[in-house]
Amino acid sequence: MSPEQLRRARVLVVGDVMLDRYWFSSVERISPEAPVPVALVQREQDRLGGAANVALNAATLGAQTTLLSVVGADDAGRRLAQLVADTPIRSALCQVPGLRTTMKLRLVSRQQQLIRMDFESAPDHEVLLDLMDRYAQELEHHDVVLLSDYGKGGLGHVERMVQLARARSRMVLVDPKGRDYSRYRGATLITPNRVEFALAAGDWRDEPELERRAQTMREQLQLEALLVTRADEGMSLYTAAGALHVPAQAKEVFDVSGAGDTVIATLAVMLGAGAALDEAVRTANRAASIVVGKLGTASVTPAELWPQA
Ligand SMILES: Nc1ncnc2c1ncn2[C@@H]1O[C@H](COP(=O)(O)OP(=O)(O)OP(=O)(O)O)[C@@H](O)[C@H]1O
Ligand SMILES: [Mg+2]
Repeated sequence: MSPEQLRRARVLVVGDVMLDRYWFSSVERISPEAPVPVALVQREQDRLGGAANVALNAATLGAQTTLLSVVGADDAGRRLAQLVADTPIRSALCQVPGLRTTMKLRLVSRQQQLIRMDFESAPDHEVLLDLMDRYAQELEHHDVVLLSDYGKGGLGHVERMVQLARARSRMVLVDPKGRDYSRYRGATLITPNRVEFALAAGDWRDEPELERRAQTMREQLQLEALLVTRADEGMSLYTAAGALHVPAQAKEVFDVSGAGDTVIATLAVMLGAGAALDEAVRTANRAASIVVGKLGTASVTPAELWPQA
């Protein structure tokens, strides 16, 4: 796939955006108020998380990428909007008064997390209706829809989003959450990891049982494909044609967080650029093997994927 072809892909990312905030501190003493350490915060770092990290991955591969989501009209929401503005992502972020932006705040000392504090609130019905209107407009200008579900409520209308996209013959890729995937019915492809798939479909003892569970779900939900990402076991694609297993390729594994984001973003860009599904899956597996060798959630460039080109 050439960079020119990748640039032709138009990807609409919708879902739960979040701000990943890190406070780096030194701990030297115990508090006089309570038997807890006192952390002196020395440096702050913010990163795009959730659906925003997915969009960053798609944009880094060169695709025309729009990010549609809601944030609060708060400090974290403004920071998220600012971080997105510093990337090639086209922002369709809506700042909603009264909504609390999803933020994961980590207090780190000596390379260790001492605590993680989560802030979030689910968008209400009115907000989701406005989002749906905007979605219908944006759909016209994109080839692939990528729904990144982190269970924070931003995809309250996911069923209608899938239906609308399929009615317009757009491909729909979903990174799922929860036990019940029936709301993703009719999507082109869903990408659960092992734990997520076991939660939704039940555990498996051996490979044939996994395949049976995957194919049963794929047929019941009328999906074209189901991709189970399997960490160090690579990934398995299930379609009407059968199963395709792609082994993991990573040589060095530093940080696996965000590998799933890289997988689905790469799939969306490849499919949007006209690649066949198995080529898209092999490329996504290579992208994931590169990204797990980087620290923190990260993304991959076309030059890293195709060094010879
Ligand atoms: N330990 C590992 N060794 C080699 N490859 C890995 C490892 N972990 C992840 N990968 C690669 O990344 C892909 C996605 O990883 P995984 O199945 O853990 O997704 P995930 O749990 O959704 O990730 P996350 O939620 O952290 O973003 C795998 O299919 C594989 O290609
Ligand atoms: Mg994941």
